[in-house]
Amino acid sequence: MKINFPIEATVKKRYSVRNYKEQAIESDKRKAIETFIVSLENPFSPNVQFHMLDIQTGQTMQKLGTYGVIKGARHYIGTTITPEPMALEALGYEFEALVLYLADLDLGTCWLGGTFDRQSFSNAMKIEEGEIFPIITPFGYAADHKHFKEKAMRRLIKADQRKEWSELFFINDFQSPLTEAAAGDLAFALAMVRLGPSASNKQPWRILLKDGNCHFYEAKEPGYSKAFSYDIQRIDLGIAAAHFDFAMKERKIDGHFVTSAQPEIDLPKHMEYVFSWIRD
Ligand SMILES: Cc1cc2nc3c(=O)[nH]c(=O)nc-3n(C[C@H](O)[C@H](O)[C@H](O)COP(=O)(O)O)c2cc1C
Repeated sequence: MKINFPIEATVKKRYSVRNYKEQAIESDKRKAIETFIVSLENPFSPNVQFHMLDIQTGQTMQKLGTYGVIKGARHYIGTTITPEPMALEALGYEFEALVLYLADLDLGTCWLGGTFDRQSFSNAMKIEEGEIFPIITPFGYAADHKHFKEKAMRRLIKADQRKEWSELFFINDFQSPLTEAAAGDLAFALAMVRLGPSASNKQPWRILLKDGNCHFYEAKEPGYSKAFSYDIQRIDLGIAAAHFDFAMKERKIDGHFVTSAQPEIDLPKHMEYVFSWIRD
């Protein structure tokens, strides 16, 4: 997988597009997307499968419902995993790589984990039994204006805001916020994590810097994942890993991810260790 787009510009360009134009996607772009999907990989090992779906003109879209959240989209990509440790994080990482790649091609996307009819999309994408099917995204050219429900949603979940650094990033323990100045050469990657998308914009990623390494935690929203058979906020952690990793690689700072480097510190309530980035 080659990340050929500029990280900061692309992270800032991406936002959830819920209203799409009729405009067709050029065939060379389409081919490039398919090639990029085949090349996708992640630092956590589990396999992530991708499923494309095109809705032909005239074909009924009624059954492929998104509860009025997505309008005008004719193309979708779904993703599946099998139940194994770090699979949700792997999905988050690869799917966000794809979402950023599409943003760089001027194509809009919107992560959907809740507001889609899972059964009808599962049938249309021919998802097999035993696979977990957490996420789909529409993709295509954004319409010139956001639709009414889209604007209301963005206001409700404060989609344009992100938490302060002091709520997200820490040094040595969870009582000590990490300032941008103290983060040194990590500051850019952390800033990129902070701008990432997350389910209901809850931004559950917390990063603790200790001995030069970054430890990623999930500030789990109690009860939030009850509607699902998996913890959807683990996908957000995978997205954080992608933004962090792409930023570090762009800055040529070497490191690798492990899942077994949990620091021995006291954790606030509802905080769970997920993985670490170790500087090489
Ligand atoms: C894992 C995940 C699941 C999401 N599920 C939905 C969804 O079901 N419906 C929806 O409209 N937006 C969904 N979103 C989009 C978020 O609401 C959005 O990313 C967040 O509000 C920030 O806005 P932005 O993407 O425009 O920056 C999801 C995002 C993520 C990362």
